[in-house]
Amino acid sequence: MEHRTLGRSGIEVSTICLGTMTFGQQNTEAEAHRQLDFAFSSGINFIDTAEMYPVPARAQTQGRSESFVGSWLAGRRRDDLIIATKIAGPARGMDWIRGGPRVNAEQIQSAVEGSLKRLKTDYIDLYQIHWPERYVPQFGERYYDSRREREAVSIEHQLESLSRLVEAGKIRAIGLSNETPWGVMSFEQAAERLGLSHVVSIQNAFNLLNRRFEMDGLAEVSQRTGIGLLAYSPLAFGLLTGKYEMNPNAAGRMTEFPGFGQRYAKPNVHEAVQAYLELAKAYGLSPAQMAIAFVLQKSFTTSVIIGATSIDQLSENIGAASLQLPDSLMEKIDAIDQRWPSPTP
Ligand SMILES: NC(=O)c1ccc[n+]([C@@H]2O[C@H](COP(=O)([O-])OP(=O)(O)OC[C@H]3O[C@@H](n4cnc5c(N)ncnc54)[C@H](OP(=O)(O)O)[C@@H]3O)[C@@H](O)[C@H]2O)c1
Repeated sequence: MEHRTLGRSGIEVSTICLGTMTFGQQNTEAEAHRQLDFAFSSGINFIDTAEMYPVPARAQTQGRSESFVGSWLAGRRRDDLIIATKIAGPARGMDWIRGGPRVNAEQIQSAVEGSLKRLKTDYIDLYQIHWPERYVPQFGERYYDSRREREAVSIEHQLESLSRLVEAGKIRAIGLSNETPWGVMSFEQAAERLGLSHVVSIQNAFNLLNRRFEMDGLAEVSQRTGIGLLAYSPLAFGLLTGKYEMNPNAAGRMTEFPGFGQRYAKPNVHEAVQAYLELAKAYGLSPAQMAIAFVLQKSFTTSVIIGATSIDQLSENIGAASLQLPDSLMEKIDAIDQRWPSPTP
């Protein structure tokens, strides 16, 4: 499997990253370990988790995904693997994380200690801010609303606190997630101005139904700063596999946790998915592999974070790594997007 470098960190990661947010909810510890074994033996060295996982987030299960990765990691050579995890940003109704998560020095310190303990390791390769401290429209919100602005920990303070942990050897590199062009550039400028660690990755949603990264200015930011995309939800929660088109009640995240899939319950989703399914059929491709290969083919992508609840799904998805989509197909994808522009922001 091809490897790409995380920003200016020198850390080499496989272009497919294994996401773990099903571990501890839809997948047991034994299933999680089988997925990790399968991924590792397929050439994947990059694993993404978060202190908040699994999802849907609940007090009773919080931390399980990291713990399952940790129990698997315990028997391995640590430097064969690149482990990414995340600190939760402020969120209403998540008081069970440190009484309400904030990205300040004190909470960053205790969040990192908690993740290290669950992951059974003494360093984290990539430590990411799961979503911004400040108000931004997120997780499918389409419009910016200035009335929702609120007091937030400054970007300088967040970066200083994280940089101290880099110096202490607890984390190797810093990443952002669910970020905007303004946010990424503010971290970049603070790093330059104050001589702090530079951010090396942006973990945002990117898939055939959500191309905001290349529409809203992040692709340009990525090109000019060298900070690449770690694309999450490449299958739009499974919609792009076509299984819910064949059977709206098909077993899976969308039917098991209906509230969780609201981001994808938007106008034009059905029409766009149908068009992508027909396109995949015309080219004799698996819709899931076409969707993942599309993300991989973008110059700003460092790695695609896939998720699976079974080894069959995982195997199919990893197969996309060796797929090269012809230009004619990429053009037809753009034509579908022009007709139904990114229906799920
Ligand atoms: N930073 C963030 O805010 C954020 C947000 C979301 C995700 N992530 C990261 O990205 C990872 C992947 O995200 P995601 O799970 O949303 O990705 P996704 O590719 O959109 O959805 C993956 C889900 O689709 C279904 N699926 C996958 N492959 C399939 C196949 N070949 N055939 C049929 N169904 C298939 C499975 O769920 P069912 O079996 O239940 O249908 C699987 O769990 C997460 O684990 C996490 O690490 C980060």
